Amino acid sequence: MKPKRTVRGWTVKSHLVTAETEMDLPSRPEVFDFHGVSMTHYFTDNWENIQNFQARPDDILIATYPKAGTTWVSNILDQLYFGQTSPERQTSIPLYARVPNLEITIPSLQPGSGPFSTAYKGTDMVDKLPTSPRLIKTHLPVQFVPKSFWEQKCRIVYVARNAKDNVVSYFHFDRMMFLQPEPGDWSSYLLRFMEGKMVFGSWYDHVNGWWKKKQTYSKLHYMFYEDLIEDTGREIDKLCCFLGLSPSIEEKERITGRVQFDCMKRDNMVNHSTFPGMDFKMSSFMRKGKVGDWKNHFTVAQSEQFDEDYKKMMKNPTLQCRTEI
Ligand code: A3P
Repeated sequence: MKPKRTVRGWTVKSHLVTAETEMDLPSRPEVFDFHGVSMTHYFTDNWENIQNFQARPDDILIATYPKAGTTWVSNILDQLYFGQTSPERQTSIPLYARVPNLEITIPSLQPGSGPFSTAYKGTDMVDKLPTSPRLIKTHLPVQFVPKSFWEQKCRIVYVARNAKDNVVSYFHFDRMMFLQPEPGDWSSYLLRFMEGKMVFGSWYDHVNGWWKKKQTYSKLHYMFYEDLIEDTGREIDKLCCFLGLSPSIEEKERITGRVQFDCMKRDNMVNHSTFPGMDFKMSSFMRKGKVGDWKNHFTVAQSEQFDEDYKKMMKNPTLQCRTEI
């Protein structure tokens, strides 16, 4: 019998962190083919409710391939909408509860009455959101998005990150996140990424699928992690334009400061330190926040092989991701 694993976690009551505790963790999940996309059961267990999810016209969906900057953009939107009207949200409710992941289901991990003492379902979390608009995050490839989002003509913000930094970030995340499959060593991980065997499937299909959708669905704002790094203020302006928001100059400056990497890394309400199943001894969630960290991981041969393959997979010249800025 495998020994029971535990990891440091937090007791969270009504989303208020009260004390550190130990959590029992299930063994790491396997990926399996789900309608042509590699997934784990944590994102398919609640499939019927996900597909039947009833979106509202003012819902805003933040869609990304995992590790492309979801938390960053979620924080920006939360600050834009609620930073002034309910600032206490930012200091008392973790970002993952303010902007729930629609498709996640986490089994009961903790004794007591915290949010992880019973199965945690993204769809329930969204249904309980008291805000208007509701900010909802998803990693689903475009073909899996519940149809009500399209029917209700919801606004969607998609964030893409260059494949090389994306896979590095995903590798470190999978090392520290026990609810993800065992990553194995870097070189085998990189090959699996190129084959599209990651959770949520192929990066190539994901960014291309959403890019194609943008051509026919006008309420989709497609942005890039690298642009956000290059000029956060400029990208916030573009977001505001898309969302029809006009914050004052002071408010925009406040938000730009609040969402800088160092500030977010220190902030326990956004750095995932209260999320179950993460081993921060392995890696931080807010790890480096840079463009070009791939150079510290890829060998020259790996980079050449990757680039060769990339050219074959990314045929659409209008979709360009920058691996350096
Ligand atoms: P790294 O692992 O490269 O550091 P997601 O939120 O989609 O899981 O993405 C996580 C990645 O976004 C991590 O990348 C994290 O450090 C980075 N990130 C989060 N907030 C950021 C910020 N304010 N500035 C720059 N990068 C940020």
